[in-house]
Amino acid sequence: MKTSNLTVIEHPLVKSKITQMRDKNTTTKEFGELVDEISGLMCYEITRDLPVEEIEIETPITTTIGYRIKGNDMAIVPILRAGLGMVKGIHELIPTAKIGHIGLYRDHDTLQPVEYLCKLPTDIESRDVILVDPMLATGGSAVKAIEILKDRGAKSIRLACLVGCPEGVKAVHDIYPDVAIFLAALDEKLNELGYIVPGLGDAGDRLYGTK
Ligand code: PRP
Ligand code: URA
Repeated sequence: MKTSNLTVIEHPLVKSKITQMRDKNTTTKEFGELVDEISGLMCYEITRDLPVEEIEIETPITTTIGYRIKGNDMAIVPILRAGLGMVKGIHELIPTAKIGHIGLYRDHDTLQPVEYLCKLPTDIESRDVILVDPMLATGGSAVKAIEILKDRGAKSIRLACLVGCPEGVKAVHDIYPDVAIFLAALDEKLNELGYIVPGLGDAGDRLYGTK
């Protein structure tokens, strides 16, 4: 499904793997493997609009015209902690990307994001950024991370999350309509504690076995 600047990836592999992640009986090890696999599958859609240019190459048989990615280099920026789980699957497909880190946690009472780390490639302003975080709930963390990236000059930002909800999508697009959002699942709503319903619980805790 694609509406204005929101793409929900409708693919049988993604749907079945997201369902496995949601299951409360899925182990920490399995959960991490699923985050990794889904992130790699999502990369196909996240990078669909990258420009290519023709190049001439020689195969063992003949000379032919092929393609290479043209344009800016990329940066993958996870929102810590849970976003870290999405880096490997994307980096394997875009090995030239540099990796930045933004550390945010959501205050349990206010649900507001608290920043504790920011380390970005020095040339972030000239890179196409893929900002990754498994969960887009109130949208507060994503909005804060986009603000940090834009303050440091980033101009092209895609946001990739595994599970989102309408409240989070609206929060991001109300402020940053230019940021393309990619989700593996668009869930129904937020509950009164700020968790996505049906969701998968606390992504960071499920990835790292904490409580
Ligand atoms: C989770 C998740 C997002 C945030 C989403 O992180 O990984 O960063 O919550 O919620 P929001 O859209 O309402 O801001 P959390 O704050 O639990 O930190 P963690 O990754 O360190 O567990
Ligand atoms: N953060 C999570 O990890 N899960 C939610 O459902 C909401 C925010």
